[in-house]
Amino acid sequence: MEYQVRHAAPEDAAAVAAVARRTWADTYRGIIPVEIQAAVLPQWYAEERLARAAANPASAFFVAQTGAGEGVGFAQAGPREEPGDAELWRFYVLPEHQRRGLGRRLLQACLGALQAQGPVSRLFVQVEAKNAGGRRAYERLGFHYVREYDDELMGHTTRMCEMCLHLDGQGS
Ligand SMILES: CC(C)(COP(=O)(O)OP(=O)(O)OC[C@H]1O[C@@H](n2cnc3c(N)ncnc32)[C@H](O)[C@@H]1OP(=O)(O)O)[C@@H](O)C(=O)NCCC(=O)NCCS
Repeated sequence: MEYQVRHAAPEDAAAVAAVARRTWADTYRGIIPVEIQAAVLPQWYAEERLARAAANPASAFFVAQTGAGEGVGFAQAGPREEPGDAELWRFYVLPEHQRRGLGRRLLQACLGALQAQGPVSRLFVQVEAKNAGGRRAYERLGFHYVREYDDELMGHTTRMCEMCLHLDGQGS
């Protein structure tokens, strides 16, 4: 199947939120209770917030779509406080479109946008510790384990794993 990866536009907000809902349900089954997902998703993926972020052409916010124009994935990253550090905030591809190279393309697009703003030496990500598929994907993409910690998600305690991609060829 032919796919296109391009910068997100404000009109993509509803499709991004829909991809998030479906991919969360698949990824976090047995990890994040459905009622917590139902409470968190409308806040984290509020369409007006997504549209505002997409409206900034310099933002590292990219979507993947099929040739027919169906939104099937997205990635969003941004700088951290420490100069040279950045964070991959969101990274989801619909289950039936995973493992076809879209994640790698979305990640490269985000890195390109971040690097256009200044040098980036480390890209961090926070992944559910029990999300074995996600962790393996990050490892294949070059990320390394940093640490684990407990986080609070609307009253639900969840174990998180921080991972990091080093871009300057320095250590792990
Ligand atoms: C993580 C994700 C965005 C990657 O997108 P993708 O389109 O599947 O990624 P790609 O096809 O470019 O694959 C990149 C590498 O990861 C590997 N990979 C992807 N998913 C994998 C899985 N579930 N298990 C093992 N390896 C996986 C691919 O084989 C590929 O490695 P290779 O090039 O060495 O063969 C996507 O798999 C996804 O949405 N997963 C579920 C949600 C999730 O966990 N998101 C991260 C939340 S923090």
